[in-house]
Amino acid sequence: MRDADLGTLLPRTVTTPRGDILVRQAVQADADAVMRMHHRCSTETVFRRYFTVVPALSPVVQGRLMSTSLSLVATVGHEVVGMAHLVEDGPAPVEMAVLVEDFWQRMGLGRALAEAALDVAELWGLDLVVVHSLPSSGGAHALLRSLRSGALHPSFRTDADGFVETTIPLADARFRQPAPGSVAS
Ligand SMILES: CC(C)(COP(=O)(O)OP(=O)(O)OC[C@H]1O[C@@H](n2cnc3c(N)ncnc32)[C@H](O)[C@@H]1OP(=O)(O)O)[C@@H](O)C(=O)NCCC(=O)NCCS
Repeated sequence: MRDADLGTLLPRTVTTPRGDILVRQAVQADADAVMRMHHRCSTETVFRRYFTVVPALSPVVQGRLMSTSLSLVATVGHEVVGMAHLVEDGPAPVEMAVLVEDFWQRMGLGRALAEAALDVAELWGLDLVVVHSLPSSGGAHALLRSLRSGALHPSFRTDADGFVETTIPLADARFRQPAPGSVAS
């Protein structure tokens, strides 16, 4: 967990045709709602996110989802309908992942979650994030291309295992506003 104050970035409200959705940091109390959301997801949606068709999240995976460097939830009341993560694994580039449950797809939540995660990545001073997806995940690829109104120009490559790795360069650090509380060097 990074300890930068995200209070300037989150929470935020997303207006959809089905009403307003809150995007905020996940808390442990969301764990049951996260489990319920995964049960409501189609096998295809789960497979596109985790590359496995296991219907229920194991306690280990569930625990990891709630404690990545950044875990965001999109909520309707007490229910979670989408998530985004920034995952750090040693020296590897920080990975971004997004999932929106089927009933709430195509309403702007995936974009809102990804934009929020990118805002946090920039606040952390990251130069880029990577996303792993299936070659057939054209919708996700379109979403990644459209982030920041298409200004980021992500690059796509297929890795040795056949997964697509998308590298999303973030705004050049030289042109960023200093993060709240940071000291210019
Ligand atoms: C990919 C995913 C997160 C998109 O979430 P979403 O809430 O439906 O996305 P949005 O409504 O914000 O869509 C934003 C843009 O992405 C593109 N897009 C999203 N889904 C699409 C689809 N099924 N087909 C074509 N374009 C799609 C469109 O350009 C869309 O803009 P538009 O609706 O104005 O045309 C969601 O489909 C999902 O959870 N898929 C399974 C998990 C996954 O593939 N995650 C990505 C890899 S980690």
